[in-house]
Parts: sequence; structure tokens; C-alpha cells
Amino acid sequence: MITVPGDKSISHRSVMIGALSDGVTEVTGFLKAADPLSTISCFQSLGIEHRFEQDRLFIYGKGLLGLRASASVLDAGNSGTTIRLISGILAGQPFRTRISGDQYLIKRPMKRIIDPLMKMGAKISSTEKFTAPLTIDPVGKLTAIDYVLPIASAQVKSAVLFAGLFADGTTRVIEHEPSRDHTERMLGLTPVKENGNSVISIEGGRQIAARPFAVPGDPSSAAFFIVAALIVPGSVITVTNVGLNPTRIGFLTVLRQMGASISIENERIIGGEPIGDLVVKHSDLRTNFTLTGAIIPNVIDEIPILSIAAAFAEGSFEVRGAKDLRNKETDRIQAVCTNLRALGLTVEEFPDGFAFESKKDLLSSEFDSFDDHRIAMAFGIASLALPGESTIVNAECVSISFPTFWETVQSIQG
Ligand code: S3P
Repeated sequence: MITVPGDKSISHRSVMIGALSDGVTEVTGFLKAADPLSTISCFQSLGIEHRFEQDRLFIYGKGLLGLRASASVLDAGNSGTTIRLISGILAGQPFRTRISGDQYLIKRPMKRIIDPLMKMGAKISSTEKFTAPLTIDPVGKLTAIDYVLPIASAQVKSAVLFAGLFADGTTRVIEHEPSRDHTERMLGLTPVKENGNSVISIEGGRQIAARPFAVPGDPSSAAFFIVAALIVPGSVITVTNVGLNPTRIGFLTVLRQMGASISIENERIIGGEPIGDLVVKHSDLRTNFTLTGAIIPNVIDEIPILSIAAAFAEGSFEVRGAKDLRNKETDRIQAVCTNLRALGLTVEEFPDGFAFESKKDLLSSEFDSFDDHRIAMAFGIASLALPGESTIVNAECVSISFPTFWETVQSIQG
């Protein structure tokens, strides 16, 4: 029986919403990993106090207008969610803020949030390539807009919704393809269906009353141990307290399509999010399909570990329509292809995905994490099912989302 740490997406949002709330927000199960801690440190620089007490985090909110100018450049570290979501909040502040991040974050695209925020009247400057550092200047009230998301991205959606709190009127975000909906749930926004799209509206100036948040175990972290149990013969694992938000568990559908034995027990709703315990048994997996279309945003963070499940299955596996994987902590298409080849597979790489035919007798090897937590964890799990010893280069990058990952791996072995 294992538990996985708190959900990264929900942890970030609990700090952001807590900071803008009137009163004290109590968060249980907060993910104490590098990325959400970057969000905390940014808000600390903006004058928001917090306190940890064992498993609980308290955020002392100052209301919509309570942030103050930071004396230094905000550091979002490696965290795309931090810099993109907080930019929506900073765009509406009466002071200038500069924000940057580590050597990887400053290469990631920011135009996707700069464009809609500038449409709302924000003043944001970036490098010529639309990357960080970003400088966000005060403009008074923002203007409410209707924004049709050009890419399925919860980060872009959330940046616009946060900016909407500082706009005159009602901001509406329209999404064709569903992306994770934690911001909507945590702010109590109910999407409406219009012509097959989902429309989320937020009123400018809407005060937020502090409320407690219970952070479930991160399904994206659970996915690694689910696949471990599926591919290591003789395994049975229960992962408890896993978030089962439908916008996050497309990977369960994909694994079941491969013939995985996964059952859900003790399903319950806590803090507005469905959670449950997952019982997973080793299964003979078969794959003969292309992962593409509307499910891609739902499984975007799980594609590395799904490709490991497919590598140990029988058949062929193709991912298409996932170009945005190249914009993650590293170029995940290139990283997955490189490491799958190290396993002995022949892999075809496309601009928007990759394809391979699985084969028996995969090889242990040296896998490069490319300093990307999900690549390190995916190939760490593959190593469990390989003969002999494998090495993960720069394995400590798991600290971004799952600091105890390697200890948890040890605890399930034998
Ligand atoms: C996240 C959204 C996704 C995901 C990231 C976390 C979020 O990014 O890949 O790990 O918390 O909103 P995109 O919105 O860019 O798809």
C-alpha cells in the first residue's frame, strides 16, 4: 500500500487563491516539492505570509487588493504553472513586477499568456522570443474579454481567469477541448455548455472568502506506480487517496485499453474533488493504437509513463497531436524517443509525437533525465522491469514534484 504526495496543480492554486482570499486558508496535503514551493516564495515576496504545521499549510490572505510590490525579481524556479498563472494576477496589480526562472523555464513559451493578457489591457514585456524574464507593469483596471483558447491549456485558461478578477465586467474563457478544471472548482465557477464548448465566466472584483482546501494525492504521480505494478510480474499495489478528477485520469482509460487490471475502491468527494484508492495488478498489456485527439490534454503529463507501459506491452504505439510536449520542462518528445531507443526500440519521431513497435528483451541502460522530473520517474519505473542495472542521470530532479519518489520505489521492491 502506498500513498503519493499531494496534487501539484491543486497545491499551486491553493496558494494563489489563498493569497487573494479574505482570511486564513488552511491547506491539508499540500505538495512540499520544489514547484509549489516556488509559488509560495513568489507570494512571500509579494507580502503574503504562510506557516507550515505538520501536514497543514496556513496562508494569510490579504484579499484581492492586498499584495504589495516585491523588492526583488520573483523566481518561479522550474515551474511553468507558477509563472503563467501568477502573471494573470500580476497583470492586475498597481505595481511593477519582474519574474523569471531557471535555465529551463526561461526557454519556455510565454506568448500563450502574454497574448490574452495584453488583450485585457495588461502591459507585459518579455524577451524577443516571448520568453521570461517578464516585466509586468501597472495599468489600472484590466478589461474583461471573451477568450477562445487557441490551445487546450489549463495554465492559459487559469491565467485569464485570474486576470478576470482584476477586470471591469465579466471575463469569459471558451474551451473546445477540456483541460484540467481545478481553478474553476476551487474558485466555485460553473462552466456552461455553449455550442459544444465549455464557457467559464468570472466577475471582476469578486471577493474570495477563505475556505480550506484538501489536496488529494496527485494522479500524475500515482501513474508511475500504477505502471510499475502493471509491468513487473507478480505485482499487486494499492495506491490510496488518489485524485480522480475526470480531467486528469485519461491515463487510466488508456491503460485499461491496453488490458490493465485497475480497480477503484472507496470513491469519495473531498473538498470538491473526487478521490479513491486504486488497486493495480500485473497485467499482460497489448497495444495497437494511436493516442491522439481530445484526450491529449488530459494525458499530457502522463505520456512519458504511458510510453513505458506500451514499451512493455505487445504491439505498436503511436502518439500524435501532442506538439506541446516539446514545450514542457524539457522537449519530452525528444527525451522519450532518445530513452526508448536506449531500451533497444526502433522509434520514429514526428513533430507532434512518436511511434514504435514493442519488442521482447528490452535492455537495461543509462537513461538521461534531461533534468525533467517526469522523464526521470518514467525511466526509473522502466528500470524496475528490466534485467540488470540501469542508471538514471540526474535522478534528483524528481524533487520538482515527488521528492520521496526513489524512497517509494525502494519501499515497493521485494
Ligand atoms: C498544468 C497544466 C498543464 C500541465 C502542467 C500543469 C496546470 O500544462 O502540463 O504540468 O497546473 O495548470 P498546460 O496548461 O500548458 O497544458
